[in-house]
Amino acid sequence: MAEELVEVEGLLLPKVFERSRPMQQHIDVIRSMPMRSDDVILCAYPKSGTHWIWEVGNMLLRGKAEYEKRTKEHVMMEATDVEEMEGLPSPRLLNTHLPPRMWPVEVMSGHKVKVIHVYRNPKDVLVSLWFNLKNESGGQDLKLQDVLEMFLSDQCVGGNYVQFMTEMDAFMKENPQVPVFNMSFEETKADSVGTVRRLAGFLNVEASDQLCTDIALACSFQNMKTADKSKQLPQSFSNLPGMDQMYRKGVVGDWKNHMTVAQSQLMDTAMKQLEHCQFHITYTLDILN
Ligand code: A3P
Repeated sequence: MAEELVEVEGLLLPKVFERSRPMQQHIDVIRSMPMRSDDVILCAYPKSGTHWIWEVGNMLLRGKAEYEKRTKEHVMMEATDVEEMEGLPSPRLLNTHLPPRMWPVEVMSGHKVKVIHVYRNPKDVLVSLWFNLKNESGGQDLKLQDVLEMFLSDQCVGGNYVQFMTEMDAFMKENPQVPVFNMSFEETKADSVGTVRRLAGFLNVEASDQLCTDIALACSFQNMKTADKSKQLPQSFSNLPGMDQMYRKGVVGDWKNHMTVAQSQLMDTAMKQLEHCQFHITYTLDILN
């Protein structure tokens, strides 16, 4: 069965995200939400490795390679009541797939909220999304071509990739006062310990080489997949089909196993729109897989 969606300011979001307010009201309340100087927001286009980096970030902020007991969906801005986020202890590591125009305005006003932006090449994002949609809908005959066409349109659940990346790029250029750490899924795969160390530097937390190594290992794909089985999801997500298959493959370049040459070229053409952006999109890391 197709997932029920709500549209807010041109963005399609799953209806299951709605908490105590209709989604448009919730977004308005998020915009006026008070921020704290030690808040961190992790933002990403869906399927870019948000679960992974949220776990890494929490371990760094707590100074321990120990898993959070709850999943990131408990502090996902679009799916959590503001009152609940206000009740969280500091430092908060919130996460979101919302574009910056929907973030709390205090992020922009020099409160020194830090932003981590994780991005992933769009071909692997597409394949990850395709499997996700197949699992959610039980639609095993859902075609990659159909998902590709949706992905390149403005009718994609969670928004359009090019638009999200363009907005992130513009946000950074227009708000140089906001500290943003850009990291890619691919560079984290290539050098997980080094990326954890660089992220620790950005967060300004002390992290020994041993701790960075322990965190990278605890957050390896297989270890997180196992750890996730004992985690508690928010009630509203717990019956959602496909949530138990969030950790699918976790590699770079799986798109080569699924996309045709024509589909890959269509994506390349669409991604020309991002040539002016400051992101280094990498499609393969052959040594890794
Ligand atoms: P795949 O479907 O390609 O396997 P998000 O958390 O933003 O929804 O992204 C989900 C994607 O990140 C999935 O990609 C998932 O397997 C992958 N992922 C999650 N944890 C990971 C980890 N620790 N290492 C590598 N990939 C991970």
